[in-house]
Amino acid sequence: MTKICCIGAGYVGGPTMAMIAKKCPDVQVTVVDINAKRIAAWQSDTLPIYEPGLDEVVKEARGRNLFFSTDVDQGIRDADIVFVSVNTPTKTFGEGAGCASDLQYWELCARRIKEVSTTDKIIVEKSTLPVRTAEAMDRVLHSGQKSVHFEVLSNPEFLAEGTAVADLENPDRVLIGGHETPSGQKALKTLVDIYATWIPRDRILTANVWSAELSKLTANAFLAQRVSSINAISALCEATEADVAEISRAIGTDSRIGSKFLKASIGFGGSCFKKDILNLVYLCESYGLQAPADYWRQVVLMNEYQELRFVKTMLRNMFNTIAGKRVAVFGFAFKADTGDTRESPAIRVCRALADDHAKVVVTDPKAIENAKIEMPDLLDRIEFEKDPYKAAAGAHAIALLTEWKEYKTLDYQRIFDSMAKPAFIFDGRNMLDHKALFEIGFEVYSIGKGLRTHLK
Ligand SMILES: NC(=O)c1ccc[n+]([C@@H]2O[C@H](COP(=O)([O-])OP(=O)(O)OC[C@H]3O[C@@H](n4cnc5c(N)ncnc54)[C@H](O)[C@@H]3O)[C@@H](O)[C@H]2O)c1
Repeated sequence: MTKICCIGAGYVGGPTMAMIAKKCPDVQVTVVDINAKRIAAWQSDTLPIYEPGLDEVVKEARGRNLFFSTDVDQGIRDADIVFVSVNTPTKTFGEGAGCASDLQYWELCARRIKEVSTTDKIIVEKSTLPVRTAEAMDRVLHSGQKSVHFEVLSNPEFLAEGTAVADLENPDRVLIGGHETPSGQKALKTLVDIYATWIPRDRILTANVWSAELSKLTANAFLAQRVSSINAISALCEATEADVAEISRAIGTDSRIGSKFLKASIGFGGSCFKKDILNLVYLCESYGLQAPADYWRQVVLMNEYQELRFVKTMLRNMFNTIAGKRVAVFGFAFKADTGDTRESPAIRVCRALADDHAKVVVTDPKAIENAKIEMPDLLDRIEFEKDPYKAAAGAHAIALLTEWKEYKTLDYQRIFDSMAKPAFIFDGRNMLDHKALFEIGFEVYSIGKGLRTHLK
């Protein structure tokens, strides 16, 4: 029986391994992590992350061929294949601070693997890493006297939070990079065969290791770049009475452009886009490529501009003062169908509102606990309320920041009746029926359209 160990039981390690275990009952999968609380949650009925459909996948395989453990060494020792799926956040210190990837977690894993392994293993980079990390990984793993051989593959993960289970079950493609040596190609085939259990072969792409590593950073940079591009146009729309939704539709029907990721919004969030683009910027700079670095950095700067522009628009329309006014923030997760709040635009918006002395009340179906963790210094100034009706009661404004579908079907007449007047709604996701809201009596702002107002 093939044995897999995955180091890192996070948003990627947990769901990907659960899917492999579900689809390959004859492969034993053990997910290990140093975070005992997280492992306990994976073993319980309340999983540590929220993803539609994930409970069922985990329940089907857990205890059969899917295990969660804090015994990292044992997991590594027993495995034929070790996935490394630890976090690779942006460095906050020293050379490359604010831009480069912090590789300490990844390197600790490599050292641990080398230390405890007594048999040959395939090591799979699942984390998103700078191009040529596999080379450093090879060096660490093969340093010293040991006769054990490690073959490093790159298998970046393209799942999107909120649709992780569907993405893993039916991916557009799986990408595996391996060295062009006989042992590299043999390892590559082993991993291809596992994925081929449920994924059609023509969707399993193989490449050299460096291309696989760089493809992941490139994919995220391109996706984020589309968001920033349409958001740049949204600002121009507000100045010219063009409608950004009409523009998205018009250009999205061009098959060369395509319609996805063309919705103007408050901006992208999540743990990956910003960090991966900044990593790309850092890589370009470290190879002396300043123009490509500047080009990609602008995608992040545009995103920050859009978040700030949203808050400034709120302030300006609410008569340049929000001090003492209750503002209900609808949605804190960085996108719908996840409890993840990492790099959520809501963080910056809430901070800016609180700085301007607004009375902020945050509501979200899944992310309230994480929201509290994001803003530990503001807990005495920000209220958290699960029920959106209660959050909105007495508020001067609603700022909708996450596209939870339940926000579409709320009783906005009831909400309007309970609010201070004039009642503002700032739709940071352009998802509500703005005409209907305006008819109820709201002052309605949407991105790329500006404010519809009853006030003269
Ligand atoms: N979240 C996403 O949507 C997504 C998508 C694609 C790729 N990625 C990439 O996948 C990687 C993991 O992301 P994530 O969101 O799952 O991160 P995460 O923070 O949710 O999980 C990482 C886990 O690794 C554990 N860990 C760290 N060092 C360890 C060690 N030495 N031994 C054992 N466990 C250790 C941490 O305790 C944590 O639980 C990152 O490189 C990320 O860029 C993330």
